[in-house]
Amino acid sequence: MSSPIATWSAEGQERAQQLLALYPDKRSAVMPLLYVASLEHGHVTNEGMQQVAELIGVTATQVRSVATFYTMYKHEPVGRYLVSVCTSISCHLLGGDEVLDAACGAAGVEVGGTSEDDLVTVERVECIGACGGAPAVQVNYELIEGVTDIKAIDLIDWLRNTTPEVVLADELQQLFGGQKSFDWGVPEPDGAIAPVPAFGPYGSAEEGR
Ligand code: FES
Repeated sequence: MSSPIATWSAEGQERAQQLLALYPDKRSAVMPLLYVASLEHGHVTNEGMQQVAELIGVTATQVRSVATFYTMYKHEPVGRYLVSVCTSISCHLLGGDEVLDAACGAAGVEVGGTSEDDLVTVERVECIGACGGAPAVQVNYELIEGVTDIKAIDLIDWLRNTTPEVVLADELQQLFGGQKSFDWGVPEPDGAIAPVPAFGPYGSAEEGR
């Protein structure tokens, strides 16, 4: 019987095998495997969920229950850069809604929309755990703290003009951030290469090493 992920790229298949090898119980790999499936299909699809289910020996419904619970799994296509603006209480009080409006205006989208060139999606998110550095924004889940509406416009323009291969929190913070909640200490070595989290072995600039 052929592998359920035989149609995935060689890289995707390798990532999947790496993930499966990490867990004594392969069901535990469901969440990272959903990100790999997202990279393969562009977003979470029925086919991708079925493939993950077969890989880990559960039903597609069980995989769907995970994929529909967490908002970071996208069931529709998103742009190359997913800009997530927090408007929960701390960020709201310090201008998060203005940041969101500015980002949407610069991208030419409504909240949750994707620009015509498929480059930028702007979404509203609940607290992303950076309340001390509010207003907080993420680009492909790389964090920026202390963002203003003006900086949000600069950020969208920069993404458009430079189309970075890798999005790195430290660089974003330096260019578009303000007050940080605390010194992050060690610079982050790897950034995000797609709208999935940058902790390997999926979606990170570490791939290929
Ligand atoms: S309220 Fe925005 S990061 Fe917590």
